[in-house]
Amino acid sequence: MQVIPRPAQWQAIRLQLIHSDQTLGLVPTMGALHQGHLDLVSRSLEKCDYTLVSIFVNPTQFNNPEDFAKYPQSLEQDLKLLEKAGVDAVFLPTVETMYPSKPRIKLDFGSLEQILEGASRPGHFNGVGIIVSKLFHMIQPDIAFFGQKDLQQVAIIQSLVRELSFPVQLEIVPTRRELDGLAMSSRNRRLSESERKQALLLYESLSDAKDLLIKGHAWEKVKKSAETLFEKEEGVTLDYFALVDQEKFELLDAYDPAKKSSLCIAAFVGEIRLIDNLPINA
Ligand code: PAF
Repeated sequence: MQVIPRPAQWQAIRLQLIHSDQTLGLVPTMGALHQGHLDLVSRSLEKCDYTLVSIFVNPTQFNNPEDFAKYPQSLEQDLKLLEKAGVDAVFLPTVETMYPSKPRIKLDFGSLEQILEGASRPGHFNGVGIIVSKLFHMIQPDIAFFGQKDLQQVAIIQSLVRELSFPVQLEIVPTRRELDGLAMSSRNRRLSESERKQALLLYESLSDAKDLLIKGHAWEKVKKSAETLFEKEEGVTLDYFALVDQEKFELLDAYDPAKKSSLCIAAFVGEIRLIDNLPINA
């Protein structure tokens, strides 16, 4: 497995891949890898001749400096996992490489970023859009792999690719869960033992709401009962609990089985902000 710190070193390999007609898969990550990331890697290994994983904790997508400072990192272990998985190369740039100067460009995703994560984390999707654009330019993948766990990020990146005509195909990989249902996330490492138990409330409330909606209960009541569940749990604060049209990524105020919909949640468990989502009929 090759470790590539600078785009200039990558260019020669990229040209070789083009000349030998090999397809390139990119798995962008911020490290602290778990099985969810490895699912993206497996999908890329299946679909592409060559797989590159990038590891870069992108400062511009953190609206909270403390969250950035405390973002889990485990580079040595990550490299071992990727080598074992059979990854061909890892791109490990520095902040100076990715941001030789502070970007003045601002990406505005309109209504897509005015709700949920965009509303709670101002500037987050601008940072995601900029770093993903830079990675696409530097690495030039044929296919890029993203997790469904970040459902709104998926909608943002689909819009980025479509509107800026990036010649990249996107592959979205389902959320990987722990045995009890907790969605895998690098941030789970920061949970204490008791917070880890409380974190299960996210998945439980999504699953309960999905069952109730399928049984015909009104969204307003389903949402209220999820909110009440969170109000009762000390140390856990609900940020949002929402029903979205999965294709347009718009908030819905009623469940319509004819529309592909998903439930989305964000909550603080102690200091740790977790997100999750569950497709209802997608
Ligand atoms: O999903 C993530 O880990 C990040 O948002 C991404 C896509 C690697 C960009 O930094």
